[in-house]
Amino acid sequence: MPAPASSSIRVSTRVAGFTYAIRNIVAEARKVEAAGRKVRYLNIGDPIPFGFHTPPHLIEAVDRAMRDGHNGYTNSAGIDAARNAVSAEYTQRGMPVTPDRVILTSGTSEGIELAIGALADAGDDVLVPTPTYPLYTAVLSKIGARAVGYRTDPANNWQPDMDDVRKLIGPATRAIVVIDPNNPTGAVYPEATRRALIELAERTGIPILADEVYGDLAFDGPAPLLGSLDPDALILSFSSLSKAYLAPGWRAGWLAVGRSPRLNEVLAAIKKLADGRLCSPGPMQYGIHAALTGDRSHQREFVRALRERSDLTVAKLNAIPGLHTVTPRAAFYAMPQVTLPKGFTDEDYVLGLLRTAGILCVYGSGFGLPVDQGFFRVVFLASPDELSAIYDDLADFTARFLKSPTHAART
Ligand SMILES: Cc1ncc(COP(=O)(O)O)c(C=O)c1O
Repeated sequence: MPAPASSSIRVSTRVAGFTYAIRNIVAEARKVEAAGRKVRYLNIGDPIPFGFHTPPHLIEAVDRAMRDGHNGYTNSAGIDAARNAVSAEYTQRGMPVTPDRVILTSGTSEGIELAIGALADAGDDVLVPTPTYPLYTAVLSKIGARAVGYRTDPANNWQPDMDDVRKLIGPATRAIVVIDPNNPTGAVYPEATRRALIELAERTGIPILADEVYGDLAFDGPAPLLGSLDPDALILSFSSLSKAYLAPGWRAGWLAVGRSPRLNEVLAAIKKLADGRLCSPGPMQYGIHAALTGDRSHQREFVRALRERSDLTVAKLNAIPGLHTVTPRAAFYAMPQVTLPKGFTDEDYVLGLLRTAGILCVYGSGFGLPVDQGFFRVVFLASPDELSAIYDDLADFTARFLKSPTHAART
């Protein structure tokens, strides 16, 4: 039957479950800007707008690749030079993988999507941390699989609650997502936790999806690869140039499948899926080779700058009555908690902060936390002076919100 010419085209129901609060909330910020107020963006973990620069030798490598004519499709798994470099890097860091177990991807994001696509069917379960980086829940929702959140505990530096992880594993569980160092909490897991996760994967035969994109940005020195604790463990590791190499827009990442033969079919499935999308951005693959074989001194300066901002963030936020944050140990995120007045949500607080103080953060429920717990995420990449001024304004807003929440959220 022909539909009326004016009726809008139907979209799939799965889109409704695909939410990504970090970007969705920007629509609210645009409205605030349209009303004439300047907005300070503390929502997206991109160092570039805050004055950090991609190392020049990476840019030269990509530029040279383009000028040398490397502008066609590559193999779907990526160019050999970069796959060899990832293999050498992992092997040197204690997780030996051969180059044929490395796939170059459009950022960590595509690695996540390929791995989940290879492992989970509609109706299956994948364990994700709560709070989580929201791409995991979004991708699972898109394929009709279920994200099952395991608890990470703010009273224990946001470490995973291992009893909870164990309890949640069932016949439909296909993978356990581990984000370490963690976004949104800034946590780095101790070795005992990491070993417990590996032991669980071994005992249950459920692989770990190890998101290690912040591994080089731990404040006390690079976090060991999870697979370095047991090279035969059931681990797929993801990373990219986005964070530690300051090139998020390049969409240059990789995934490495652990050497256990039990993962061979998963590797083959990932390669099959990767064939369908042809390749990750070609010239940027040369940037991966340059990054992993060249000078990394920029990381020392970047980590120093992050630690300085983290210290400032913790000191200023913990001085605000009604607010508390756990101290981050890596990356550029803190997850403070405000004591919400009864009946109010994290979204009320965050939207009030945006509309009345022009500060954009992301509410904790955007990362899977309950709306009534008052968590929100701060990205602390701005300069210390700017951050200091922002936290002063945040303190003023918080005082008003806690005294008179309905009024404060509107004025
Ligand atoms: C934990 C985590 N995983 C993956 C990503 C996506 O990174 P990429 O730019 O490499 O796709 C991010 C980006 O913020 C992240 O925080």
